[in-house]
Amino acid sequence: MTDTSPRALVTGNSSGLGLGLSHALLDRDYRVYGCSRRGCAALADRVTDVLCDLTDLDSIGPALDQLLAGVERLEVVILNAGILGEIEDMSRLSVERLREIMDINVWANKVILDWLLASGIEIEQIVAISSGAAVLGNRGWGGYALSKASLNMLCRLYAHEFTGTHVSAVAPGLVDSRIIDTLCEQTDIERFPALKRIQDARGTDTLLSPTRAAERILEALPSLREFENGSFVDLRQILAPEEYAALMARGNRPGH
Ligand SMILES: NC(=O)c1ccc[n+]([C@@H]2O[C@H](COP(=O)([O-])OP(=O)(O)OC[C@H]3O[C@@H](n4cnc5c(N)ncnc54)[C@H](OP(=O)(O)O)[C@@H]3O)[C@@H](O)[C@H]2O)c1
Repeated sequence: MTDTSPRALVTGNSSGLGLGLSHALLDRDYRVYGCSRRGCAALADRVTDVLCDLTDLDSIGPALDQLLAGVERLEVVILNAGILGEIEDMSRLSVERLREIMDINVWANKVILDWLLASGIEIEQIVAISSGAAVLGNRGWGGYALSKASLNMLCRLYAHEFTGTHVSAVAPGLVDSRIIDTLCEQTDIERFPALKRIQDARGTDTLLSPTRAAERILEALPSLREFENGSFVDLRQILAPEEYAALMARGNRPGH
């Protein structure tokens, strides 16, 4: 690897999509920086890694100071770390629990973006991993849907403040990860009908392996830059229009 290698930051690199992204970036000769609570043991000798609990907002700055010391340019930043929370009705979720989900899925990203702005690191592209849940509003997706909708707006707002950087929020499609494991364990399909689509996706091409999902995101980076700065883009719009149309047509009407 030479000093001119492109550089990437991936948050939440210990499993699922973040681990897949780290693999795929290394395959493309990126120098990869990352953070999570568990660490990226699978790629320990190949990524530069720092342990960080992103819910501890005050710890993020010092962790990034350590992780990115001496880095002057990042070709891509992927804000991937996130949690699902519970599949539950909004009325049964406490504000305290919603705050915890917002802390990791939204406010940690705000702190990271503020740190990056202040750092003066030249950044070509920022991609925040969002979800179709940000717009679907399906019953049960409470804290997750709220947080991803907020993340989409966070990206739109920060696009004004990062000059020379393209910012987007991107829904990757269904990725076989711990989040899908949790969704497949849920049994109350009558109350939360959107679970069925996800559980039916197991064993089909609709459910992407983390590596495949990561490759799709990296392949889409140039196309994303053609969208208005700050946009939310569901990759299925570009790559699987029929799947996307079916998803949107299914609707989320109250009582369904
Ligand atoms: N799976 C899907 O179908 C799907 C669809 C749409 C969007 N997404 C989004 O994709 C992203 C990755 O999720 P995934 O599906 O790959 O699930 P995952 O395997 O659970 O990965 C989540 C990652 O976030 C990190 N993370 C969670 N809480 C953290 C914390 N407090 N501090 C630091 N890191 C934390 C985890 O690391 P540690 O546990 O080691 O801290 C892990 O590396 C999420 O933003 C998710 O919303 C997933």
